[in-house]
Amino acid sequence: MAANRTLIGEQGYDRAEEVKQFDESKLGVKGLVDSGLSSIPRIFIHPPEILQQFQPTTRPNAQPIPTIDLSDLHSDRRSSIVDQVSGACRNFGFFQITNHGIPSVVLDRTIAAVKAFHEQPTEVKARFYRREMIGHGVTYLSNVDLYTSKAASWRDTLQVRLGPLLEAADDVPKICRDEIVEWDREIRRLGEELLGLVSEGLGLRAEKLKEMTCLGGRAMVGHYYPPCPQPDLTVGLTSHSDPGVLTVLLQDHIGGLQVKHDGAWVDVKPVPGALVINVGDLLQIISNEEYKSVDHRVLANPHHEPRVSMAVFLNPSNREGVFGPLPEFISPEKPALYKEFKFSEFLLRFFKKELNGKSLVNYYKLQ
Ligand code: OGA
Ligand code: NI
Repeated sequence: MAANRTLIGEQGYDRAEEVKQFDESKLGVKGLVDSGLSSIPRIFIHPPEILQQFQPTTRPNAQPIPTIDLSDLHSDRRSSIVDQVSGACRNFGFFQITNHGIPSVVLDRTIAAVKAFHEQPTEVKARFYRREMIGHGVTYLSNVDLYTSKAASWRDTLQVRLGPLLEAADDVPKICRDEIVEWDREIRRLGEELLGLVSEGLGLRAEKLKEMTCLGGRAMVGHYYPPCPQPDLTVGLTSHSDPGVLTVLLQDHIGGLQVKHDGAWVDVKPVPGALVINVGDLLQIISNEEYKSVDHRVLANPHHEPRVSMAVFLNPSNREGVFGPLPEFISPEKPALYKEFKFSEFLLRFFKKELNGKSLVNYYKLQ
């Protein structure tokens, strides 16, 4: 019957129904793993063309992304640090930082708190399980793009809206509240330094990006990548670029994050005590492509331990503000590559789409 055929669709089974059941169970991937499965449910199986992209281009010995030592940032070392940041943003879109001023006990405590949240019983986490962020500062869910993606990923996420002020700190689950409040305090300080370095690297005044409210709209995601019984059939996080200005990522020791560089996937190897920084789409647009946002992804976790990461996205808090390439980067030789838009419209577009590739920058691109 025709109706049945539409229902069953391309996959040969009623995928929409199975996705809905998984979502309504609020189990998350962690809950599935705890139930003791030895193979992954079919909604997680990625089509062969996607899985193939995950395999052959990985170059394990490729040039690693740069690691930049931020010690003595306010000394005569600064201009060399600015040059390194600028070089990394131009050539890789990604870099790691060490001696950034956040003590390693704080890094460990933050990872442990995110892990502890995800390792609570399903009933406790289920109270936070929801898909709408509007009206809620805190959401826990599996796969932010569950209903728009072609296949689900082996990952659960806790999202917290942090900025401009973490108004609803009381809504943050108790088990990780103090640690998230502490992390946000550290990120506000470090974020200001990073925006300064990035601004100077672009030849702007150090305060420029901060004045554009780029530290104001902070949002965090605490990801949990459970061990996967069939890591070759799925992924941890599909390839995407981050929409905002800059992302500050804390990862544990497991690994699995990869960045696209010169057409190949390069591992972002965990460096103890380091943080990973990357350029987002909005910075690519503001800088008229002086800096590039870069596709990255996370492999499904083949290890016996879970992988935990925590990303903070630095976005403008001025949602009604108009963004586009700054006049400093436009010239007769290099006309504006993007049209202008309101940041609120940009975000709306981001949440409607599948997390896949750079469709946002492409949307605003002028010829
Ligand atoms: C992200 C992201 C990488 C990771 O949340 O946008 O790229 O290692 N995370 O979890
Ligand atoms: Ni990302």
